[in-house]
Amino acid sequence: MNILVIGRGGREHAIIWSLKKSAKIKQIYCAPGNAGTAQLAENVDIGELEFARLVKFAQDKAIDLVVVGPDDPLAAGIVDEFEAAKIPVYGPRKNAAEIEGSKIFMKDLLRKYNIPTAKYETFTDYAAASAYLRQQPLPIVIKADGLAAGKGVAVCFTREEADRALEETMVDKSFGAAGDKVVIEEFLEGQEMSILAFVDGETVRVMSPAQDHKQVFDNDKGPNTGGMGTYSPLPHIAQSIIDDSIENIIKPTARAMVSEGRPFRGVLFAGLMITKDGPKTIEFNARFGDPETQVVLPRLKSDLLEIFLASINGTLHELDITWSSEAAVCVVLASGGYPGSYPKGFPIEGLEAADNSTDALIFHAGTAVKDGQVVTNGGRVLGIVGLGSDIAEARTRAYETADRITFKGKQNRTDIAAKALL
Ligand code: AMP
Ligand code: GLY
Repeated sequence: MNILVIGRGGREHAIIWSLKKSAKIKQIYCAPGNAGTAQLAENVDIGELEFARLVKFAQDKAIDLVVVGPDDPLAAGIVDEFEAAKIPVYGPRKNAAEIEGSKIFMKDLLRKYNIPTAKYETFTDYAAASAYLRQQPLPIVIKADGLAAGKGVAVCFTREEADRALEETMVDKSFGAAGDKVVIEEFLEGQEMSILAFVDGETVRVMSPAQDHKQVFDNDKGPNTGGMGTYSPLPHIAQSIIDDSIENIIKPTARAMVSEGRPFRGVLFAGLMITKDGPKTIEFNARFGDPETQVVLPRLKSDLLEIFLASINGTLHELDITWSSEAAVCVVLASGGYPGSYPKGFPIEGLEAADNSTDALIFHAGTAVKDGQVVTNGGRVLGIVGLGSDIAEARTRAYETADRITFKGKQNRTDIAAKALL
């Protein structure tokens, strides 16, 4: 089969790496891709939102399946476009991707179907939002309704922070139209956990859970990023809590989407807080997580292509998906300055570090090739994944390889997965 993967991050590199193991693969293209995807697939210079060009490319190359990685094209209806052109595509339609594209849609859905989430109110008017905010206890959480590259959420511990966050979102429009509406919600305390699931309508096949590290610095200090590292499985979290999340949050949400006439097909990703009253939903994403995918897919024993095809053919419920008991830890190497502004174009040395090892994988994110040399080309540059019999071994292997790779301004957290070892 000829496959077109859309996206340019570590997630897409990991998806392609996993698809490559399938005997059915003939050729994989990646639009636009990065220096890592270029090693396994043919990169195509078309952006994720250039729908007409992507559809034309898929027709010209007789693409048998399109796999969409990022949130923006899904929210903008890329799946509907490919379906209209009769090209098989894996991902949710626009009306189902709204579960990520609009936080208000997501919160109202969960409220309507009694699915655990933080208490909240929504606002379109700044004065009303501001008056409500003043009545709320601290800490308090303010969220832009729309997509904001993971930056539209402010967890506020003081009145000043809260006032500033609301003003930035609704008045200054720091996140553009995404901040025309806001959610103001209760602060949830506890450990976070990500559960990703392959979903087709009411059929839910969960993946092994993972934990992300959102803040840029060690000990969860500094501003939020797209994710500085992940690990899977979560040995310190009881199976009963994972089961509770699946039965009381993920499955009811899939059923709710069917009831609403918006059946979800694709990867449904629940960001959860394990509170003292049980797991509650922080957010839903309509796609694979990045860098969750980098630790989850290396542990998948089943054929990823078969899972995508079964979802499209309506036979996902017949599949038995199996996972390796190995552990995986991903350490993200980022550009100095990220998540703020950062320079690009620095040569990356030591990439051959993982070449002779089956215990560490290097997934590229913000990389490009310039004059035959791999250079930095984004905030999150590489995801180094260590595999091992347990988290401690996987973590040692990830850091051993991460330490051998260098580029100017390189920064990474040194405490990825440390919580699992306490
Ligand atoms: P989101 O983009 O919705 O995942 O939010 C980004 C991060 O903000 C989450 O991973 C949490 O760490 C934090 N967060 C979001 N909502 C809440 C909440 N209600 N209570 C506590 N922390 C939250
Ligand atoms: N790592 C979080 C996300 O992909 O949204």
